[in-house]
Amino acid sequence: MDKKIALITGGVGGIGTGICKTLVQNGHFVVANYVVPGSETRWQDEMAAAGFNGDCTAIAFGDVTDFEATGAMVRAIEATHGPISILVNCAGITRDATLRKMSPEAWHAVIATNLTSVFNTSKHVIEGMVERGWGRIINISSVNGVKGQFGQTNYSAAKAGVLGFTKSLAYEVIRKGVTVNAVSPGYIDTDMTRAIRDDIREEIVGGIPAGRMGTPEDIANAIAFLASDASSYITGANISVNGGLHMYA
Ligand code: CAA
Ligand code: NAP
Repeated sequence: MDKKIALITGGVGGIGTGICKTLVQNGHFVVANYVVPGSETRWQDEMAAAGFNGDCTAIAFGDVTDFEATGAMVRAIEATHGPISILVNCAGITRDATLRKMSPEAWHAVIATNLTSVFNTSKHVIEGMVERGWGRIINISSVNGVKGQFGQTNYSAAKAGVLGFTKSLAYEVIRKGVTVNAVSPGYIDTDMTRAIRDDIREEIVGGIPAGRMGTPEDIANAIAFLASDASSYITGANISVNGGLHMYA
């Protein structure tokens, strides 16, 4: 497979790290984005332990809620490493609360990080992908963007918005060789799900037909396929990877 430059937002997080490893194993050069200084250390250690060095990996600081900062990050990556051909929008946060208790700050933070970020990054890479006639944009949505979830009006709205964005952009660029797809994970074992109260998390896991949470690799395998030439006729799609938690046609 051709070596392509892949930018993974939130690339140093639980799912992001899994995606980075799998894309490197598939022959790509990955750039992992992060926002909290210091959060890249675990990623660097884990990638080094997996045998991946600066020949196939890099790190990029940038707040993807900020349009200008995202543009500056994309330009810096492209100047140093070359054009971004694969964009995986993986940055995300939760601020769970019932609507009655949810603050405007919790609403806006989740919409900015989980939805507006997808506009910010896509806007800065799309012209290059179209000009070169090849590109892959893969957006991480969620089972809870499809089915809703108690305590997640902000998160479910953002993740459902990601699915609408995915389909609309897919129409616009498929004739230019660029596909736009989503992957909707179920509950995956990362810091995000470890933050759920123990008793609630156990109840959720008890309802997963697979009988377990997913792993970052479960998600990464779907991403690797969507990032490949083999998926060129798939666009505007949403691949569920949720252990059967929510099945729909
Ligand atoms: N369905 C119906 N009622 C529920 C309920 C549920 N799932 N959970 C709680 N309730 C009820 C309680 O019985 C209680 O009822 P009463 O008032 O009649 O006693 C009431 O709701 C409690 O409401 P509170 O607002 O006080 O709830 P809380 O503050 O204790 O907890 C919460 C709210 C933080 C949202 C908590 O329910 C929670 O953590 N839920 C899990 C949310 C979740 O799945 N988050 C996923 C995070 S990971 C992720 O998002 C990744 C991904 O994409 C999958
Ligand atoms: P995670 O380990 O907490 O990773 C989230 C990542 O997002 C972190 O690396 C974080 O960077 C990054 N991020 C947050 N705000 C950012 C910002 N403003 N700019 C740039 N990066 C930012 O969580 P995860 O479980 O891997 O989640 C990854 C994605 O999968 C999220 O979009 C999440 O909604 C989605 N998802 C997760 C699950 C699940 O069960 N875990 C299920 C469905 C969907 P820092 O480390 O620098 O803070």
